[in-house]
Amino acid sequence: MAPSSVSGFRYARLADDLESRIRDGVYRSGEKMPSLRKLRHQTGLSITTVYQAYIELEKRGVVEPRQKSGYYVKPQLSRILPPPEAQKLRPVPKKVTMDTLAYSIVADMGNPDFLPMGGTVVMPELLPFKQLVRCIRSESMEAMKRSLMRYEKPYGNDELKRQIAKRMVGQARQDVLDEMVVTTGCIEAVSLCLQAVGAAGDTVVVESPTYPWFLQIIEDQNKFALEIPTDPQTGIDLAQLERAVQKNTVAACLLVPNFHNPLGYEMPVEKKKALVEMMGRKHIPIIEDNIHGELYFGNARPTTLKSMDRRGLVLHCASFSKTLSPGLRVGWTLPGRFADRVKRLKMNSTVASPTLNQQVVARFLKTGGFERHLRRLRTALKNQISNTALAIARHFPDGTRITAPQGGLSLWVELDKGVDGLKVFQEARKRRISIFPGIICSTTGRYRNYIRISCGYPWSEKMETGIVTLATIVKQMI
Ligand SMILES: Cc1ncc(COP(=O)(O)O)c(C=O)c1O
Repeated sequence: MAPSSVSGFRYARLADDLESRIRDGVYRSGEKMPSLRKLRHQTGLSITTVYQAYIELEKRGVVEPRQKSGYYVKPQLSRILPPPEAQKLRPVPKKVTMDTLAYSIVADMGNPDFLPMGGTVVMPELLPFKQLVRCIRSESMEAMKRSLMRYEKPYGNDELKRQIAKRMVGQARQDVLDEMVVTTGCIEAVSLCLQAVGAAGDTVVVESPTYPWFLQIIEDQNKFALEIPTDPQTGIDLAQLERAVQKNTVAACLLVPNFHNPLGYEMPVEKKKALVEMMGRKHIPIIEDNIHGELYFGNARPTTLKSMDRRGLVLHCASFSKTLSPGLRVGWTLPGRFADRVKRLKMNSTVASPTLNQQVVARFLKTGGFERHLRRLRTALKNQISNTALAIARHFPDGTRITAPQGGLSLWVELDKGVDGLKVFQEARKRRISIFPGIICSTTGRYRNYIRISCGYPWSEKMETGIVTLATIVKQMI
């Protein structure tokens, strides 16, 4: 985002000046810019020149007008730094051995003394706490009694399933009520689905890098992970995937096509269609993790693989952990032709997910505030990612590369080849900053010079100081 003109025109010079102040963090993404009058006062320029400067900034995609309110700094999601390079790797099935590092990372994530840039969690203030409490309070004693004093239906609360089914219109091809299983978070959905599609010793395709907890599940189910090179902007490499499934017997693919964690891309629609078609021809099930599907930064909710599936081979998994409450642990799956198997596994594992939690989410969805809440949440996350990315661009050394997420809440940062992300993580930990070392997103030992920074918390001076500290740690390692 470099100022694009060094023109003789006054309005262009003012636009350049304002743009560099945005880049320097004086005006932050989502913040209101000074009014025309105020700028006229400050600069001594005419109101027409100031107005032209704003029109120029709008053309450059740096500010946006809001009706009757003035100009606001537009979140910058691309053009900040170059994207990380796509990795070249030879896909080979690997036994997974996650070490204890994952546990210390989880411990840091929950520690309130740490600067929270590690876990992909949304700040509680961005979630509808009061409305959820109201939903709990408004349950009658009779309803409470019914929910606390008996088992819920094994595959989920009827009202919750109806509410989820309404949200799934356009995201799944047919009626989903019979197929749906309510789970305890998305991770249980993924775990049950992976169990349902195969057995110990199987090979499971994942993106490279992938969400580390997938690797842990694969390890605990005694399966092998087959990592496929993944483009940071468009997702898994289909040509390499095709070659890999020809060479290896693959039991399933476990993918995050929408707002991948950690890469943040949305797989283009045509690529999604080609993926579903290719795996369909080979009868390979795809477990689609759509946990971030509602956290899009564009104009429309992304399409799902599930909506393109005619053969019942896509097992769709999601939850409300990033949109309503991670603590309620309410998720769901639509396991296609594997529904009976998943239902049986669900009964074997927990009989049913907690009734009260399901009722609370159902009531919240029914009261109709969800869409409004999601709009606010998306705007906040977009601004948080933009402010974090701009701060990385300001403070990290030259050569740093970052993703331009199209949704979700993480930034994937490629550091100089000589920098060990694990050491950055350890040094940051000493300074009570929680981040995520890239190396745990793979079984291959790759991504040593990568870190993931989560943007679930609003931008603040503390965050800026945290980024400066991280940049200092990184610079000392070059
Ligand atoms: C891709 C992905 N899947 C699953 C989960 C876990 O979801 P839940 O908390 O609903 O179990 C996360 C959490 O960050 C995630 O990023």
